[in-house]
Amino acid sequence: MRILKFYSTNIGKKIVVAVTGAIMLGFLLLHVYGNFHVYFGEAKIDEYSLWLREMGKHLFGVGGMLWIIRVIVGGALVLHVITVAQLIARNRAARPVGYRKTSRRKRIIVGTTMAISGLFILFFLIFHILQFTTGTLQPTPFHESNGIGLVYINLYEAFHVWWIALFYVTAVAMVGFHVYHGAWSFFQTLGWNNPDRNQMFRLTAAALGIGLFVGFASVPILFWSDVLPAPDAPTAEVQPIDEEPLAWN
Ligand code: HEM
Repeated sequence: MRILKFYSTNIGKKIVVAVTGAIMLGFLLLHVYGNFHVYFGEAKIDEYSLWLREMGKHLFGVGGMLWIIRVIVGGALVLHVITVAQLIARNRAARPVGYRKTSRRKRIIVGTTMAISGLFILFFLIFHILQFTTGTLQPTPFHESNGIGLVYINLYEAFHVWWIALFYVTAVAMVGFHVYHGAWSFFQTLGWNNPDRNQMFRLTAAALGIGLFVGFASVPILFWSDVLPAPDAPTAEVQPIDEEPLAWN
């Protein structure tokens, strides 16, 4: 098949890495937007979490749209990781020669940092979903209503534990770096880079990386420093917006 033949080429793989990275970047931007509801109070973020389950329910049922997004973003993540691993293996086998020494050293440093930050992010992601979505890992108690985590109180309690707050800030710093370098490579892979535009691309990549870092890190930092208030009623249950049973998580 033509598409598989294209995927087997180096440029095909680089485009797959770029496109799957862009899908995940879209998810991160939506996630950071979703997190901002926390600044408008407990009710707002918990309602937003219910809305995530209810969006598109007339077409796909309650939770259906969320599952479609999970499959797309999860599929992009798997393809991204597999394809990056294949590219690294190919680069190693090819043992590139001919780069100037400094340029080669720089590539190795950046490549290693991308691999380490990528692995750290994967580890963080598993911990994060088990902590706040499924409630399987409970370094602090997982509060839920109708099988869905009560976001505000869960965040409040978690981020008052110093090592959890620090772990999250470290992880999102890795995300910021990964996105900065990934976005910059994306422009190069697509062949859009040239000396006139490079400055703009660097700035765009930096704005994305720093913007995501600040947006994400603000949540643990503001909870930990008590800028965000305690939940109104720690044991209060949030009722679903309608009567239909909600799908798991
Ligand atoms: C400090 C930063 C972050 C906070 C406070 C945060 C908070 C949350 C919360 C509360 C949930 C559960 C939402 C719900 O069930 O309604 C969640 C889910 C999730 N988060 Fe984060 N998150 C952060 C950073 C990240 C980052 C950096 C990533 C990706 C690298 C990420 C990926 C996810 C994923 C994949 C889910 C599961 C979505 C689902 O399937 O329902 N989060 N996050």
